[in-house]
Amino acid sequence: MSDIQKRDQLIKQWIKETAEMIEEAKEKSLEVEEKSARNDLVTNMDKKIEEVLTDKIRSHFPDDRICGEEGFGDNLEDLKGTVWFIDPIDGTLNFVLQQENFAVMIAVYEEGKGVQGYIYNVTEEKLYHAIKGQGVFCNGQPVSAPDNKSLSDGLMATNSQLMTQDAFSDYRKIAGRSMGVRMLGSAGLEVTELIKGNIMAYVATKLSPWDIAPGKIMLEEFGFKISNFSGEPVDLLKTNQTIFATPSAYNEIVTTNFK
Ligand code: IPD
Ligand code: CA
Ligand code: CA
Repeated sequence: MSDIQKRDQLIKQWIKETAEMIEEAKEKSLEVEEKSARNDLVTNMDKKIEEVLTDKIRSHFPDDRICGEEGFGDNLEDLKGTVWFIDPIDGTLNFVLQQENFAVMIAVYEEGKGVQGYIYNVTEEKLYHAIKGQGVFCNGQPVSAPDNKSLSDGLMATNSQLMTQDAFSDYRKIAGRSMGVRMLGSAGLEVTELIKGNIMAYVATKLSPWDIAPGKIMLEEFGFKISNFSGEPVDLLKTNQTIFATPSAYNEIVTTNFK
């Protein structure tokens, strides 16, 4: 069995186990703490899941390194070798306030190149995954690439900062070119909306490596474009202002006159 197949089997099993832990935790009261701001939360479950996943990765793949949101991983200064990205709960605010619209996300990169990515919508029990060169799947079934629709013919998504902070007001012109804006509050689930062809672009002011890593692999399988707001490749060692889009929508976004 190849490393990719071995990891694929294990990741699917681990995601199932962590989802069960999340479902059980919903019955009990959550411990919620603020991180950098009152709307930047972490729960005992974010920490628990990252701890469980990092322990499993380290026991099966001791030479690999881990980039995780809650601090159980390694401090990475490069992407050499095999690197795992973990977002234990993407959409923590939704998890706390809605008990839905959140995902468990894992990705594996080798020498900086995406190999396999997983986004699990816990409440809908839908696992999206992609293995480089093999396409995108939802619960094991292949997903066809959506049409390369333009922004002016479709919807787009963004994050709340782009809507609420004056510093980003010029970028709202992008929204004006679309048919309308939708907002889920989970970068991973916005990627699944792109996969379904429900939106043509997701434009976010600040995404961390673990927010971007799995979706990038999936969307590149469809030939979609992913870059920072300046059109440069995203850097998976830092936060990025990020555009994910169909090729047509991407072209409209980067040719928008922001000033
Ligand atoms: C956040 C969500 C949100 C995005 C933020 C992310 P978290 O992840 O994906 O939609 O706008 O930038 O940090 O903190 O819930 O894992
Ligand atoms: Ca996240
Ligand atoms: Ca998270």
